[in-house]
Amino acid sequence: MAAFRKIGILTSGGDAPGMNACVRAVTRKAHAEGVEVAGIIGGYSGLINDNILDLTPRMVSDIIARGGTMLYSDRCLEFKTEPGMQKAIATCKKHGIDALVVIGGDGTFRGGTDMTNRGVPTIGIPGTIDNDITATDYTIGFDSAMTTTANMIDCLRDTCESHARCNVVEVMGRDCGQIALYTALATGAVAAVIPEVPFDEPGTIARMKQLKAAGKRGFVVVVSEGVRTPEGTPYSEKLAEVIAKETLIETKFARFAHVVRGGKPSLQDRLIATEMGVMAVDLLLAGQSNKVICRLDSKIVPVDINFALISDRYYKNKLKEGDLDAFTPDQVNAMKERAEKLNAEIRRVYQMIEDTSK
Ligand code: F6P
Repeated sequence: MAAFRKIGILTSGGDAPGMNACVRAVTRKAHAEGVEVAGIIGGYSGLINDNILDLTPRMVSDIIARGGTMLYSDRCLEFKTEPGMQKAIATCKKHGIDALVVIGGDGTFRGGTDMTNRGVPTIGIPGTIDNDITATDYTIGFDSAMTTTANMIDCLRDTCESHARCNVVEVMGRDCGQIALYTALATGAVAAVIPEVPFDEPGTIARMKQLKAAGKRGFVVVVSEGVRTPEGTPYSEKLAEVIAKETLIETKFARFAHVVRGGKPSLQDRLIATEMGVMAVDLLLAGQSNKVICRLDSKIVPVDINFALISDRYYKNKLKEGDLDAFTPDQVNAMKERAEKLNAEIRRVYQMIEDTSK
């Protein structure tokens, strides 16, 4: 068992419902093991600028059901520089922080691996509404963001039905279409438009015309923000215009944006955040580091951060020269299989939306 006195914890990148539940779990579990916890305020900037708040178990009371992150968050450019990292190391030394738990997305994990390489063992926990981390089936916040999105679309559907209208809804997700995909399926939307699958605009327009002729009154189309026009503008807004013009259905546009990143975490997010937080402490105390905690086939398991980061680039076609050099043929094959599995699942759900919105 590693002899840690104090674990630091931070949240970084876009906040996500469930981050607080994870901060709570790490804090309580660490104290239960006799280890102190330093809350790092404002992500990696807090580590650079020495903004540290020691957390007692009582200080994380009543946050399990709260959205946002009590530790605050940011996207820190200075941390990507060596001087920035050295300041972060100095802060760890000053406060006796022996190890870190970092909650966020791929940028957060790159920071985590930088800290591990400079002598501060780090474990990453996936926290982002986007569910865009290839190595894990699930990121904390995804279910809550989808639930909020679905509730809001349900409201739009009521009024679309009353007025025989269409609503084109743009949702967040960066370059990942999963929020759009699953909420479209769950709300009975007529189509999802996502970066992962080429969109058949004429086919969808034709289908909407047929449905209208057959008596359908209310239509919803969910578009991921990652889908852009060739000019780089949001495709969602353009699609709303095309639908109105081509189908003659009165069409409204709504952009949900940050609103679905807030609010209470769902039950699933609280549970997964708690399990991941507890495992992060267990791993550090067992002497492990440079792992990201993933959910794979309903199990919570640690995955090597470097493998996770490169799997992500593999899946997103962003591999750089030499990226695969450190991996065995079996590991590269595992990345390939993972990418194929994710793509197959996205296509399966995409097809289901078409089949169930006839
Ligand atoms: O990564 C979470 C996310 O909400 C994305 O869905 C979105 O593209 C981005 O963050 C927005 O970033 P910001 O909060 O900096 O506007």
